Amino acid sequence: VSRGPFFAANWKMYMDPETARDYANAFELLAEPFVDDAYIALCAPFVCLETLSEELEDSEIGIGAQDCYWEPEGAFTGEISARMLRELVDCCIVGHSERRRLFGETDEMVARKVSALLAQEITPIVCVGESLEENQAGRTAERVTAQVVAGLGHLTDEQRGAIVIAYEPIWAIGTGLADTPESANATIAVIRSAAGGLDQAVMLYGGSMKPGNAEALCRQPNIDGGLVGSASLDPGAFAELIVNGLKGGDAR
Ligand code: 13P
Repeated sequence: VSRGPFFAANWKMYMDPETARDYANAFELLAEPFVDDAYIALCAPFVCLETLSEELEDSEIGIGAQDCYWEPEGAFTGEISARMLRELVDCCIVGHSERRRLFGETDEMVARKVSALLAQEITPIVCVGESLEENQAGRTAERVTAQVVAGLGHLTDEQRGAIVIAYEPIWAIGTGLADTPESANATIAVIRSAAGGLDQAVMLYGGSMKPGNAEALCRQPNIDGGLVGSASLDPGAFAELIVNGLKGGDAR
């Protein structure tokens, strides 16, 4: 992936194969006017991936997973490996704050997952972001820098340049209260300088990105697109968000 507009839906634990099929069919039509202007991916629950790969076989729209395990196979009940995903997805979310907070994912696990995905030529979308407490204590830059160094420090500059990073302040996720464009831009500038190779990496903003704020966020020089939760669950809203985000990107 090289720097350019990039919009990923994170469906989280919503949708099933049937609703995913309906969504894909509707979204493919809606996305026709702009599908060549941005890289777009739908990050879906594992059980939807096969359906999406059938429905979107002839489409430019990419498919993503929301997590993976680093070992290629073995006695790891319930896990899905990066190698198993290889034929099904183009990208995979890693280190989402919900996985860190609810399922104990650590920076060390993020680092292993990123390596496993790169080995399978799947683009990792690595999430970083601070809590409300850290934000209020003025520790945002320190927190995201630590996450980048611990999660991506083991890679070469070239490998880091092939990764997508999503800055998702935890207090902005699912709250309707997005970061301001200027503040998100400044934090992403910190992320870009946290390790070598990130100057040309794709950087997304995530956390209550909506059709109404996508243009202003994407007008910022450091923000290449979005990782979108709630607003991605409706194909019309996600399409509108991308159109507005592209307007912002064009204006910068
Ligand atoms: P919302 O867009 O619902 O705030 O979720 C953001 C998110 O967590 C994307 O990964």
